[in-house]
Amino acid sequence: MTNTTFLVLGGTGKTGSRVASRLQQLGHQVRAASRSGTTRFDWQDENTWEPVLDGVGAAYLVDSQLADAATSVAAFSKLAASRGVERLVLLSARDWVVPDGEEKLPSERAVRESGTEWTLLKPAWFSQNFSEDPYFRGEILDGEVVMSTGAGLEPFVDLDDVADVAVAALTGTGHAGRSYTLTGPRLLSLEDVVGEISRATGRDIGYRPVTPEEFAAYAAARDVPEDYVALLNLLYGWIAENRFLELGDGVQRALGREPRDFADYARATAGTGVWNA
Ligand SMILES: NC(=O)c1ccc[n+]([C@@H]2O[C@H](COP(=O)([O-])OP(=O)(O)OC[C@H]3O[C@@H](n4cnc5c(N)ncnc54)[C@H](OP(=O)(O)O)[C@@H]3O)[C@@H](O)[C@H]2O)c1
Repeated sequence: MTNTTFLVLGGTGKTGSRVASRLQQLGHQVRAASRSGTTRFDWQDENTWEPVLDGVGAAYLVDSQLADAATSVAAFSKLAASRGVERLVLLSARDWVVPDGEEKLPSERAVRESGTEWTLLKPAWFSQNFSEDPYFRGEILDGEVVMSTGAGLEPFVDLDDVADVAVAALTGTGHAGRSYTLTGPRLLSLEDVVGEISRATGRDIGYRPVTPEEFAAYAAARDVPEDYVALLNLLYGWIAENRFLELGDGVQRALGREPRDFADYARATAGTGVWNA
């Protein structure tokens, strides 16, 4: 690549922070950017776009998750290509997140049509939601996980694997034009998840499956905003109905090794003390 700086959007987030620190450890020049980061980037303020692209050869993109996210990604990706960016890696999601009838994950198309090399990352639910997302971590600290997920299964993926794949795609060869479905090595129910965290912490944490209506009432009593409750019920419902029972092979294809198991994540995370009540 002619330009040598790596741009990491969402650099303060769960995946972006890992991608940026790995790139730094490898000795690369890194620009991590977001609304609250040291380098300011806001998907909703186009004035912040061009400055972050100076000298950038490859970029990691986390879109805004707003309704017009794909429009911004399309415009930004074209701008990036015109400024000499040769490679884009997009954090996307599995196709199950798109309600029936809508175009599938339009940010992916925006990146594919940018004119740069591209790689798409399509992860399962992150294992680290239970330690790094304040809402889910709060439930673990309270000792009870309440979800409308029933006995549904999900192949939780470790964010260290997601970040390793992102870095391989940003810096290595053979990843252009590839779409990687990133999951852990096995399917887990929420009861399994809570069991693993209980074992790792030595604490007695329960899982209470509820109906979507019961979940809405439970969450309202905890002052969870209504639109977030609706989103959670949607995502939980997809787990409950076992929408995605396939194990992805993205970690194996990109890195030539197996993904990390949830039990390893739970053990290592328990050791940090973040789940000490
Ligand atoms: N959580 C899961 O289990 C899961 C599973 C599959 C896929 N995903 C996908 O992962 C993505 C979320 O990634 P993540 O876990 O890294 O999220 P995260 O930890 O919440 O980070 C989001 C990042 O984006 C930045 N950001 C938010 N709005 C922005 C804006 N308008 N302009 C510029 N930067 C903005 C945030 O920083 P500032 O606040 O500083 O701007 C932050 O650095 C989503 O696309 C989601 O669909 C999540």
